[in-house]
Amino acid sequence: MNSTSNINELRTSLELLKKAGKTIGLVPTMGNLHDGHINLVKESLKKNDYTVVSIFVNPLQFNPNEDLETYPRTIEEDKEKLLACGCDFLFIPTTQEFYPETLYPHTQVKVPGLSDILCGLERPGHFEGVCTVVTKLLNIVHPDNAYFGLKDYQQYLIVKKMTKDLMIDTRIVGLEIVRDSDGLALSSRNGFLSDHELQKARQIYHSLQKTAKRIYLSEAKFQDLEKLAHQELLAAGLTPEYFVIRNSESLKSATPEDPNLIILVAATLGSVRLIDNIRISLADHEAIE
Ligand code: PAJ
Repeated sequence: MNSTSNINELRTSLELLKKAGKTIGLVPTMGNLHDGHINLVKESLKKNDYTVVSIFVNPLQFNPNEDLETYPRTIEEDKEKLLACGCDFLFIPTTQEFYPETLYPHTQVKVPGLSDILCGLERPGHFEGVCTVVTKLLNIVHPDNAYFGLKDYQQYLIVKKMTKDLMIDTRIVGLEIVRDSDGLALSSRNGFLSDHELQKARQIYHSLQKTAKRIYLSEAKFQDLEKLAHQELLAAGLTPEYFVIRNSESLKSATPEDPNLIILVAATLGSVRLIDNIRISLADHEAIE
């Protein structure tokens, strides 16, 4: 595996491959890799001639009160995992290289509307930070395909819209959420939770599943189902930020006529913020997940 923090070095290697007609897949990450990330890498390896994984804890997407300093950094373990699955390139830019002081105030990429709701409300500027860093990565790597997890569903939709609006010629691929055996979505932030808190965190997926069933059975109005799930999360010791049923394309409030819905949740446990979702299709009455 070729590992570099140098933008020009990476560009030069990739240009040679592209001239030889090879396809490139990109997997952007912030490291502390788990099976959710590795699943993206494996798919990219399967579908492209070469795969680039980036690891960069992007300061621009963290708010001042968030966990930028304590975000888990496990570069040696990450390298081993990437080597083991046959990754071709690891790109680890430095903050200085990605945001040289000469660039301040820095240009930012914003996808209006989609970025201002849900996680965007609670984390102002977060998605501008994500879009800006993803644009940089796409401009450096020029991948044919870029892989994102549907755990960060809002992020996936925003990146997809951004590339469409800006006519960036990369296909954005979304892959299913990887969970542990109890259904908890894998996340780098799960490592901050004690065993007791992990137990509480499992309520998130339970509430998502229960709500999906209640929707299929048309048990109550969506708003009432949202309130009920809120209460369940509170009762389990979590602090829900939102628990909402939305149209899975627009993320606008869902109506019973919408065939494709998504139930999205964000909740905190102490200082740890967790997100998850389930998509459901009422057209064929089957949970997509
Ligand atoms: P990070 O949280 O490291 O996630 C990198 C990618 O892994 C994202 O596309 C995320 O959705 C995906 N992912 C994380 N946990 C997953 C799980 N349990 N199942 C499936 N996919 C999962 O998301 C980011 O980094 C950053 O915002 C980034 C896009 C790299 C920009 O800085």
